[in-house]
Amino acid sequence: MSKSIAYIDNKPYEIEQGDTILTFIKRQFGNDYVPTLCDAPNLDPFGACRVCSVDVALAENGKTKAVASCHTPVAPNSYIYPHTDNIERLRKNIVELVLTDHPLDCLTCEVNNNCELQTVAAKVGIREVRYPEGKNHLDRKKDLSHAYMTSDFSKCINCSRCVRACDEVQGEFVLSMAGRGFDAHIIKSLNTTFENSDCVSCGACAQACPTNAISDIFESKSIAHVKKTRTVCTYCGVGCNLEVATLNGKVKSIQAPYEAEANGGHTCLKGRFAFSFYNHPERLKTPLIKKTDTLLKQPGMKPMIILPQN
Ligand code: SF4
Ligand code: SF4
Ligand code: SF4
Ligand code: FES
Repeated sequence: MSKSIAYIDNKPYEIEQGDTILTFIKRQFGNDYVPTLCDAPNLDPFGACRVCSVDVALAENGKTKAVASCHTPVAPNSYIYPHTDNIERLRKNIVELVLTDHPLDCLTCEVNNNCELQTVAAKVGIREVRYPEGKNHLDRKKDLSHAYMTSDFSKCINCSRCVRACDEVQGEFVLSMAGRGFDAHIIKSLNTTFENSDCVSCGACAQACPTNAISDIFESKSIAHVKKTRTVCTYCGVGCNLEVATLNGKVKSIQAPYEAEANGGHTCLKGRFAFSFYNHPERLKTPLIKKTDTLLKQPGMKPMIILPQN
């Protein structure tokens, strides 16, 4: 049976089962062709930000309607126009409105140069914010109560990625969106601090957050520690893939790569945060040999790795 097709800029492409307009476009033109903010590789589509909007028509160059591509199934024989003037204006205006309620202290921000809001703002061509200063949420206080997790909701863009990460990825249901319209805001458990919430410190919300609104004490999203090494967690048999950021031979932070088959962008509290012992001065780095009830370090001896046969 022949596959259905749809058109992107009037060229035909085959639709795969379950395609949204965004996955359909990404397969042809790569992940960065259409900007997104509330979409994330390991979360279900949600449709909160509308930055991914594209024009869709039922006939070639016909009357178009703007739809959010991330959560709209691609319709057979539809005509998709990802970069019309109308769409470029719409995306720019959406991001401009988000920036009217954002601190814009990028140079001193922990996630500077690794911030999806920054990247999208640059991509849609923001050079100024045309709207006058109005009501905002810039006075929200930081939450530094927790042993690992931190938040600064003055930088929240209400994308709900953290809520979905906590629900869909960790299954902990700690975070929710409370209030409506301009008052919509993220709360932890029954509106308390990270410390008093039911958070289990998995860090999924921080990794999902596209800005610095949720982070952790190790500043895992900072690019200050540029040396990144891909490795496998040694704690349990799941074998989570980890990306370890180091500086001067010391582990600074750990993230979970999205494309890893074993853990798909997630790992537990131990895999992500329990790494301080790696840098401990008493950590064993050479084998010990037992001689008359005493364990002696063998400085000249290298640790042995036994590789499985076949
Ligand atoms: S979260 Fe991003 S846009 Fe906001 S201040 Fe930090 S770097 Fe800038
Ligand atoms: S760290 Fe994990 S458990 Fe805690 S709020 Fe974030 S996603 Fe939920
Ligand atoms: S805290 Fe981060 S992930 Fe959560 S809604 Fe705000 S910006 Fe989005
Ligand atoms: S990325 Fe599609 S609505 Fe946000």
